[in-house]
Amino acid sequence: MDRGDSERQRAIFITGAASGIGRATAELFASRGWFVGGFDVNRNALAALSEKLGPGAGLFRPLDVTDRAAVLAAVEEFGRATGGKLDLLFNNAGIDAKGPFAEMSWEKIVAVVNVNLLAGMSLIHAAISLLRATPNSLCFSTSSASAIFGTAGLAVYSATKHAVKGLTEALSVELAAHGVRAADVLPGIIETGMLPAESKAIFPKRGMWRVMPASAVAETVFAAYESKKLHWYVPEELADYDVQITREPEATRDGRLAGGLF
Ligand code: NAI
Repeated sequence: MDRGDSERQRAIFITGAASGIGRATAELFASRGWFVGGFDVNRNALAALSEKLGPGAGLFRPLDVTDRAAVLAAVEEFGRATGGKLDLLFNNAGIDAKGPFAEMSWEKIVAVVNVNLLAGMSLIHAAISLLRATPNSLCFSTSSASAIFGTAGLAVYSATKHAVKGLTEALSVELAAHGVRAADVLPGIIETGMLPAESKAIFPKRGMWRVMPASAVAETVFAAYESKKLHWYVPEELADYDVQITREPEATRDGRLAGGLF
């Protein structure tokens, strides 16, 4: 990285920026002097974030990540605002869908796959040239602890999060040839709009399934930019659980593995 580049303001593009993990990440990076591109389908919440961060914090635009043309336009506008640079792409927007697979409508299944997987692919694909044009850039996605072992009651969501992890691994090899890193985060239980207030009480106070604040994931995104690590777990104990499950998937299926929540 030459001297000119080391002095350049860093730029992050965040989807799902209006709430939860995305919002906490936007706030953290703005407080550390980054240019923030905040994108979300929720206009009002995004406007509130933009107002909170103040003028000059970055670029905040309503965006439905499933709209391919809108994604291309958003990436282009971001590139114009940053002089063609993108240091960190945070592919984070997501939706969940609880309930047995057999009882889920086909429309809901397609919606979850569209937002959590296809839209992420669309965004990354659209942003690759900006990432390649930026020294030390990082393509970072939000997977989930439900990508450790398929989660009953969240089958489609869980399948998309496994796919995000797999995509990240493949891209971490493919993009390395272009000087771009790829990594992801597997959060456990995070206190955001996705976690209904009434369900908070069911989670333990300690251990890997304790409820964590969104700021813990935001700090992880920041740490990831400084690192070459591939998979990040929040909390970190989930990494050991992943190793254990990989060794004994049947024990998890049969409910014999201690520590499992679901
Ligand atoms: P959240 O519901 O607070 O935030 C998700 C944001 O994504 C919302 O602002 C929503 O408007 C936005 N969004 C949804 N569909 C969109 C679309 N089509 N286009 C643009 N934006 C859209 O939830 P949270 O927890 O902050 O979710 C962020 C990511 O973290 C998601 O990918 C989620 O699957 C993942 N995650 C969350 C966990 C948790 O316990 N909260 C655990 C593991 C992963």
